[in-house]
Amino acid sequence: MAEQQFSRTTVTAALIYANGPIHIGHLAGCYVPADIYVRYLRATGHDVAFISGTDEHGVPITIRAQKEGITPQEVVDKYYVQIRDSFAEFGISFDIYSRTSKPAHHRMSQDIFLQIYDKGGFVEETTEQYFDPKAGQFLADRYIVGTCPVCGNENAYGDQCERCGSTLSPTELINPRSALSGETPVLKPTKNWYLPLDALQPRLSTYVESHPEWKTNVAGQVRSWLSEGLKPRAMTRDLDWGIRVPLSDAEGKVLYVWFDAPIGYITFTQEWAEQVGKAWEPYWKSADTKLVHFIGKDNIVFHCLIFPAMLLAEGSYILPDNVPANEFLNLEGDKISTSRNWAVWLHEYLEEFPGRADVLRYALCANAPESKDNDFTWKDFQARNNSELADNLGNFINRALVLTQKNFGGAVPPVGALLDLDRALLAELAAAPARIGERLATYRFRDALAEAMNLSRAGNKYLAETEPWKLAKSQPERVPTILNLSLQLAATLAVVLE
Ligand code: 2FM
Ligand code: ZN
Repeated sequence: MAEQQFSRTTVTAALIYANGPIHIGHLAGCYVPADIYVRYLRATGHDVAFISGTDEHGVPITIRAQKEGITPQEVVDKYYVQIRDSFAEFGISFDIYSRTSKPAHHRMSQDIFLQIYDKGGFVEETTEQYFDPKAGQFLADRYIVGTCPVCGNENAYGDQCERCGSTLSPTELINPRSALSGETPVLKPTKNWYLPLDALQPRLSTYVESHPEWKTNVAGQVRSWLSEGLKPRAMTRDLDWGIRVPLSDAEGKVLYVWFDAPIGYITFTQEWAEQVGKAWEPYWKSADTKLVHFIGKDNIVFHCLIFPAMLLAEGSYILPDNVPANEFLNLEGDKISTSRNWAVWLHEYLEEFPGRADVLRYALCANAPESKDNDFTWKDFQARNNSELADNLGNFINRALVLTQKNFGGAVPPVGALLDLDRALLAELAAAPARIGERLATYRFRDALAEAMNLSRAGNKYLAETEPWKLAKSQPERVPTILNLSLQLAATLAVVLE
C-alpha cells in the first residue's frame, strides 16, 4: 500500500497531572522523543503543531491537596509553573503548554460531551458505587485502594494497578478501602453516563487493525484489551473537583478526568491557533492530518481505545495515526516512585549540572526504553558523557574547528583533488541525513542517535587516517581538502543532532 501523504502533523505529548514535579522517567518515556520527532518535522519543512499542557483535574490532584494541606487550585497553580519551567529548561519545544483548568477547556469538554449525548452516544446507568460514610463522599478512581485481582499488589487503585499495569474498576479490587479515611466503603446507588465501548468495539478493532505499523509494545496491550472484550466505561464521576457534567440531572457530578484530559489536546490546539492566527480545525478534522500521541505506557489504553472511541462517538474528528508509547525507565535497578522519592527530579538535576540539560537528553535518548523497560544509572550517564559526548563527538568537532582556526584563520578552506577515502567519507556524509531521517520518521530515536554518533566516529577515523596536523610540510595541498570535508561533516552533525 502506498504511504499516505499528509499535509500537516498534530503532535501531542501527554498532559501530565499537575500534582508534583517531573523526573527523568517522564522525559525519557514521552517528552524527549516527542520533541525530537517535532524538531525533525520542522527541520524537514513540515507543518506541525506540538501540543501539551497539564492535566489539572482528577483524584491525583485532590489527593495531593489533602496531603499538602492546600486547595486543589493551589496545587495545580504551583505545579503548572514548575512543570512548564522544567520543560522549557530542557528544551522541549512545545508550540503551546496550557492547562485543563482554563474556561475554554471546560467549555470544549462540555461541548463534546453534549455532542455525544445528543447523538445518544452514552448509556445512562444507575449502579452501586463505593461510598465512604465517614468522609461523606463517593470513592472514584484513586480514592479507593485495595488488592489487585491480577497481581496481588495490595495498593492498587480503583482505576489502575501501577505494579502490573492492569486497568481496573473499583469493584474488582479485593479488600477495598477508602484512601480518604482507610475505612471499608459501603455500596450506594448513583447515576452515571457510560461510553458503550462494547458497542464501539467492532469499529475500534477495524481502526486498530488498519495500523499494523504500531509498535509491538503498544499493539500488544491494545490487542489484549480487545481480546478480553471492551466494557462500557463511565465518563462521569461523583466528585466535586473537575468539569461539571452539563446536564440538569447531574448535580454534584463532574466529567471523568480521562474524558476531559485528551480533549485538552484539542482545546490547546485551538488556543495556539488563535495565538498564531491560524484555523485549528484542519489540525483535528482533516483527513490529510497525521495525529500522533506521545505518552508513557500506562496511558496506552486511553489513547489507543478510549479517546478514539470518544472521537468516533462524536463523529467529526480524525483518529490518532500512531501512539509511539515508550516503556518505563527505572532508576539504578528500582522502579521510579514519587511516593518513595526515588527519582531524578529535573529541577534538582539542573542544580547539580547547571547548563547541562542536553547531556541528560542525550543519555535518555541513547538509553530510551523504546521497546522494553530500561535502567538509568549514574555510571552509564557518566560513561555516555565521557566516552560518547566528549571523546567521540566533542573530540571530532574540537579537532576540526581548532585545526581550521590554526591553519586557515577560521575560514573554510577549498576542496582540492579527492582521494578514495575522501570520496568514501563524502558518500557516508551524503547518505546520513536520509538514513537518520528514516529512523526519526518511524519513531526509532535511539537508532537515529546511534547513526549520528557513527557519523561522528567516521569523522574521527578520517582524521586519524589523514592526520592533517602532520601534513603542513610534507603534503600541504591535502590539508584544505581534509579540513573542508571535516567541516562539512561537523555541519551535518550539527543539523542532525539539532
Ligand atoms: O498519566 C497522567 O499523568 C495523565 N494525566 C495523562 C493524561 S494524557 C491526556 F489524555 F491528556
Ligand atoms: Zn496488579
